[in-house]
Amino acid sequence: MSKNDIIIFDTTLRDGEQALKASLTVKEKLQIAFALERLGVDVMEVGFPVSSSGDFESVQTIAKNIKNSRVCALSRAVDKDIDVAAEALKVAEAFRIHTFIATSALHVEAKLRKNFDDVVDMAIHAVKRARQYTDDVEFSCEDAGRTGVDNICRIVEAAINAGATTVNIPDTVGYCLPSQYGSIIADVINRVPNIDKAIISVHCHNDLGMATANSLTAVENGARQIECTINGIGERAGNTALEEVVMAIKTRQDLFKGLDTRINTKEIHRVSQMVSQLCNMPIQPNKAIVGTNAFAHSSGIHQDGMVKNKNTYEIMSPETIGLKKEKLNLTARSGRAAVKNHMEDMGYKENDYDLDKLYDAFLHLADKKGQVFDYDLEALAFIDMQQGDEDRLQLDVITSQIISGLPASAFVQVELDGERIGQVSQGGNGPVDATFNAILKITKLDLQILNYNLTAKGEGAEALGQVDIVVEHQGRRFHGVGLATDIVESSARALIHAINAIYRSQKVADLKSQK
Ligand code: KIV
Ligand code: ZN
Repeated sequence: MSKNDIIIFDTTLRDGEQALKASLTVKEKLQIAFALERLGVDVMEVGFPVSSSGDFESVQTIAKNIKNSRVCALSRAVDKDIDVAAEALKVAEAFRIHTFIATSALHVEAKLRKNFDDVVDMAIHAVKRARQYTDDVEFSCEDAGRTGVDNICRIVEAAINAGATTVNIPDTVGYCLPSQYGSIIADVINRVPNIDKAIISVHCHNDLGMATANSLTAVENGARQIECTINGIGERAGNTALEEVVMAIKTRQDLFKGLDTRINTKEIHRVSQMVSQLCNMPIQPNKAIVGTNAFAHSSGIHQDGMVKNKNTYEIMSPETIGLKKEKLNLTARSGRAAVKNHMEDMGYKENDYDLDKLYDAFLHLADKKGQVFDYDLEALAFIDMQQGDEDRLQLDVITSQIISGLPASAFVQVELDGERIGQVSQGGNGPVDATFNAILKITKLDLQILNYNLTAKGEGAEALGQVDIVVEHQGRRFHGVGLATDIVESSARALIHAINAIYRSQKVADLKSQK
């Protein structure tokens, strides 16, 4: 690692995931981890194993499968957290433990109810304990952005003496302005005597919209690791967006002179779409780098300039982030090999999706829609990634009716554990409501629909309707997604998807109680 390398520490699956309305399944987290590995992140923080058995299992599964990025897990500065993190990670050849404690006066007094001397002792103890399991230990001073710089320097020096190899200076609540944050990093470099023994990391939240600017100013002042997430997802207003810092460093080499990341930028668009889809976190159209408008030119003057010379209005090319202009299409006559080729062309590897299932879904769609475009195929593949392997509930037939002035009605036929059941429902607020009522009468599940979101996937009148819903059942939240040419069917599929997730969680709970 040279002093010009910027380490990209991705925390989509930890800081990003903890802010979602419904948590990801192990399968979804693994898909994202594979995509991050292909993107070339140096370190991926994938969970907080002590927080739940689900988190433990996903950290362990990812640690087992990821080979080209260092896998990391979070722990408070508490023995049990560190031991459980190490237990989850030990299947990996090498791993990082990230331990943290709050250092601002506000957090130390109001939250931890301790004094700063105790906090320093806890940090030293935690780092030493983590070092018993791995020689790659990161220490973070939570809320460093609001911690006096003397205290930051004191705890950072102590953590390095105890064995921390990376020291992270988080702006936990996104409070700092770039000049101020840059000077904290400069002070740490100038005042901590053993700083040459550790990498300085930055972790910025975006509460004031400064996360990217703060991270880059920190790099200008000597930080060499940036903690970030895909699409900037994370607590509250989110974290530094990976795609923004990476593309800024690449595009402004005149300022970042020779500094570089290991990121394969051509993967950015794909991983951004995947994270948005699996996390049920839409991307705002004008989002830098990955928004749908990020490379669109609307005004006549701009379009004229672009035709004459692209550099007039384009500071980076869409191809650099893996965007393709040409939109290839398939029809019901296209074979499995054609579908596989198209997936390969879009950058998907075979372990990203199940070709048999994708091909079935493709034929079903091609029958209804005629032409299936690459973006339709991609949407189907994302849905496939979110389906469980043994779904108890399957949709067979659905019909719905609205006659103006009369209540809506629906007929739904499903297979539940292999048994075919039909149900009519009348009197809903509309066809979607009537369909939901019919499904819930069949399953007799008591659940609340917290969120219903309909998006057009694809282009123009031919676009598919995607429905994302979040439901609550017995205090837990589940995400369901459905994609179809008509929105009543998408809605039914989304609810059935969420119900299958509930069934799976019940099965896991039953298995645990039998142990
Ligand atoms: O924002 C924060 O301070 C964190 C720490 C755990 C690094 O997420
Ligand atoms: Zn954070």
